[in-house]
Amino acid sequence: MIISIDGPAGSGKSTIAELLSQKLKFVHFNSGLLYRGIAAHLLKNGEDISSVEHMVVPITLKTKFVDGIQHVIVNDVDYTAHLKDNEVSVAAPVVSKNIHFRRIIDNCQRAFAREHNCVIDGRDIGSYVFPNADVKFYLDCTAEERANRRFKELKGAIPYQQLLDEINARDYIDKTKDIAPLVVPADANVIDSTNLTIEQVLDVLYLKVKDKLKK
Ligand code: DC
Repeated sequence: MIISIDGPAGSGKSTIAELLSQKLKFVHFNSGLLYRGIAAHLLKNGEDISSVEHMVVPITLKTKFVDGIQHVIVNDVDYTAHLKDNEVSVAAPVVSKNIHFRRIIDNCQRAFAREHNCVIDGRDIGSYVFPNADVKFYLDCTAEERANRRFKELKGAIPYQQLLDEINARDYIDKTKDIAPLVVPADANVIDSTNLTIEQVLDVLYLKVKDKLKK
C-alpha cells in the first residue's frame, strides 16, 4: 500500500509522514533524501554543482532502512551521514532539475514501493511518481503560518519577514518549475493545517487511511 503526502516546503509533511507511518507500522520513505544522496555523491567527486543540471552520468542508487534510519547509497558508497550537510542542502535543488537523475530517483522509489507498505512524502509523489497511490494527501498551510512556525523553531534568530519572503520565493519556484511542479494531485485529500495541531492533522490522515483499509 502506498500513501503519498505532497505539499509545499515547511507544511509539516515529513513530520506527519513519520508519525503516520509509525501509527500504521508502515515505512516512512523520504524522497528528498535520494536527491540529497546524489548531491552528496557529486560533491564528493568534486563535480561543479553549477553544471549538474544537464549532467548525464550512469550511477546506481539504492536506499535501505537500518534500525529505522533511511540510508542512501550511491555507487556502493553510503552517504547517510552527509545528507543534511549544508552544502548538500544547497546542491540538492540543482539535482532535482536534472531529468536523468530524476528518472533514476523515480525508479528507485517505485522499486522500493513494490515491496513495502509505505508513506512517501515529497513534492511530486501523488501527482507524478505514484499517480495510483492508494491514498493521496496534499498538506497545505498558509505561507504566513509556515513562516510563523519556522520563526518559533529558530527562536527568533531570523526575522519573520525574511522567513516569509523565503517561503514565498520557494513556493513560486516549486509551483512554476518545468519539471514536476508542485500541484494538488488528482483525487488528493487536501488538508489545510494552518489552524490545526500536529495531533489533529495526524488524526485526520489516520482516519482517512483506516477508511480506505476497511474497503
Ligand atoms: O525535502 P528536501 O529538502 O529534503 O528535498 C531536497 C530537494 O529535492 C529539494 O530541492 C526538492 C527536491 N525534491 C523533489 O524535487 N521532489 C521530491 N519528491 C522530493 C524532493
